[in-house]
Amino acid sequence: MTVPIGIHDIALATGHYAMDLAELARHNGADVNKYYIGLGQTSQTVPAPDEDIVTLAAAAAKQIVARHGVEGIRTILFATESGIDQSKSAAVYVQDLIGLPAASRAVELKQACYGGTSALQLAVGIVARDPEQRVLVIASDIAKYDLDSGGESTQGGAAVAMLVAANPNLAVVDETVGLYTANVQDFWRPNYRSTPLVDGKLSVSAYLEAVEQAWKDYEGRGGRGVSEFAGFCYHQPFTKMAHKAHTRLLELKGIEATAARLHADLSPTTIYNRAIGNSYTASLFVGFTSLLDHSDDLDGRSVALFSYGSGCVAELFSVTMVPGYRAHLRTADNRAAIARREPISYEKYRALRDFTLPEDGSELVVSARSRSPFRLTAISGHSRIYAAAHAQ
Ligand code: COA
Repeated sequence: MTVPIGIHDIALATGHYAMDLAELARHNGADVNKYYIGLGQTSQTVPAPDEDIVTLAAAAAKQIVARHGVEGIRTILFATESGIDQSKSAAVYVQDLIGLPAASRAVELKQACYGGTSALQLAVGIVARDPEQRVLVIASDIAKYDLDSGGESTQGGAAVAMLVAANPNLAVVDETVGLYTANVQDFWRPNYRSTPLVDGKLSVSAYLEAVEQAWKDYEGRGGRGVSEFAGFCYHQPFTKMAHKAHTRLLELKGIEATAARLHADLSPTTIYNRAIGNSYTASLFVGFTSLLDHSDDLDGRSVALFSYGSGCVAELFSVTMVPGYRAHLRTADNRAAIARREPISYEKYRALRDFTLPEDGSELVVSARSRSPFRLTAISGHSRIYAAAHAQ
């Protein structure tokens, strides 16, 4: 008998500030409904200077470790698009910050926004080989585009940490998946740039093509039919993208994508993403968390998840919710993490954007600004120095 493997726990963290997109509209003269309705975004998380992908990741992972301890964790998989180092993995910093075992492998994975799904599937494989082990999967990103570019309205940031284990409390990761890879230049970030180069319209059409192709692969491998799913989660660079993607899937199956159908299928999965903005690798799992926190009982039901990373790699997979999963959710904490962000004006956002870490080896002490349990405290010797809040 094969042991069920999947998501035992899932925790969310986001940054300190939030800018309402009305502020961006005030700056650039756009009709705010382009953002609120056209993109389906109300605000975006803006990190404080003492936050980065490592502090967000550690804040998410700390919640997992506080509940489950570190026993059996021998692998930490950290997926990100916004890596802080060309060589050293961000997972090593998290291992140190939250006291994960030294007898562990800690690595970083990259394929734009898809990386978190690859980490999840690799984790399932590791646990399949040794069900005594548990794998900490982290997806953490800060989405940052050029000032006054089309992508600026879709910025955001968040981290999601998941504990992958045998006999999980929350969701079993089902075996059948649909895959699609194509060499598309829709979004990429050369090593010398801090913001991506992006062909926004191409990225939308490449994403939709990937939905179709991944679904066809999934179907060809004996996957479930659309009507067998109780929920649908899509990677959400902006929440309207989930509507476009689901419309494409429904139409492919000859189902009319009415506004009522789209609302029923998607509204619970877009609530957090609407407020946070894009969080690249974390976005799909923010959407999954939102679904779990805003759905009627999904006991024993299956949820379809579609992961897309520009460039591009896509995967259609599913999970089946474990009966009683609702007792293990973190709904109040997740809502609080989003609600407690400090609202900022466009001017404050610009000041935060203008703050950059030194790139010439000079030293910097980063003053405490966020309430994060972990902070970036300094740049010293070309290194980022982190500390737990209680240690400062
Ligand atoms: N009221 C309501 N809707 C409005 C509006 C208004 N006043 N003004 C514009 N809109 C709608 C548009 O009709 C469009 O909707 P549609 O796509 O359903 O037709 C939507 O708002 C966006 O408008 P658009 O002119 O296309 O915006 P843009 O030129 O700023 O580009 C992106 C949008 C997504 C391409 C851009 O934000 C981007 O490049 N983002 C980064 C890359 C990304 O997220 N890619 C997604 C796939 S990975």
